[in-house]
Amino acid sequence: MIRCSAPGKIYLFGEHAVVYGEPALACAIDKRVTVEVIERSDGLIKISSNDLFFKDVSVEIAGDGEVELSPGERTLKPLHYVFEVISEIQSIYDGDISGEIGFDMDIKTDLPIGGGLGSSAAVTIASIKTLSTLLDLDLDLEEIAEIGYKVEMNVQKRASPCDTFTSSMGGLTWVETGEKLEKIRSLDLPVVIGDTGKEGPTGVLVEKVSRLKEDYPSVIEPVINSIGEITYQGLQKLDDNDYSGLGRLMNVNHGLLDCLGVGTEDLNQIAYVARNAGAWGAKTTGAGGGGCVIAIGEDPDKIATAIEANGFKAYKTKITENGVLRE
Ligand code: PMV
Repeated sequence: MIRCSAPGKIYLFGEHAVVYGEPALACAIDKRVTVEVIERSDGLIKISSNDLFFKDVSVEIAGDGEVELSPGERTLKPLHYVFEVISEIQSIYDGDISGEIGFDMDIKTDLPIGGGLGSSAAVTIASIKTLSTLLDLDLDLEEIAEIGYKVEMNVQKRASPCDTFTSSMGGLTWVETGEKLEKIRSLDLPVVIGDTGKEGPTGVLVEKVSRLKEDYPSVIEPVINSIGEITYQGLQKLDDNDYSGLGRLMNVNHGLLDCLGVGTEDLNQIAYVARNAGAWGAKTTGAGGGGCVIAIGEDPDKIATAIEANGFKAYKTKITENGVLRE
């Protein structure tokens, strides 16, 4: 039996501005997707997950690596990433995965799905690590991240390599122009995540910011530059271990995201509730339009309790050094 897990991610600073050439800082969080495989002798591939909204599914994969999905199965979003992983791994593996090597795969997650916390990347990266280990393919973390990005592109047609890179490497990722990615350091910092329970469509929100920038370039360009400056100064605060300064910059970043038009009433409410409960800082993470707020502070329990008392879900977690790993 092989079991591997991979983390989700948050943006500490810089989302949206990164689309226009500013840097962003993404971090792996200690909420993970775990994938377990057990070899079976009949060559069949059977996938199950009770947290990811599908029950047991059996599929047979053709020798050429093509996965046939029935229309009903295509709506099972996380499963689609797993099928794509199997296809990609098949394309670099000498033998036939199905027929020759069948397996039972079970997927568990403690990441919410579709909340902008990189759940699809975590499913993808954990599956790649598990299957490549099963097949004795010696992939390093960069190769796993690269295959993961390809999988996300194939499934979504548009993806940032940030999620799969951060999920694979762990720690803090410095992102430039959405393409140049570098793991810069590790950090153990408690974070509270407040979840609006609504999904923000990334493509639509990126488009919305682009229209605003086109209509008011002299107003919006300085906002974007300012978010970039926050990211540089935020990194400095981390290096100085100045978490209250980090929090103040998160608050400014939240306000700037709101003024770019990607804030919502729920996101603002969670941010204010967190700050009133003593958070040093709270900001929208990811595309906005729904999704989650991240907050840091001395008393994570108090912040989480306050968020929940206002009818939202709260998850206590921490920024983590651990990327994908075999457990
Ligand atoms: O939807 P998320 O949480 O992966 O965040 C998207 C981040 C953006 O900067 C808005 C878009 C991008 O591709 O970088």
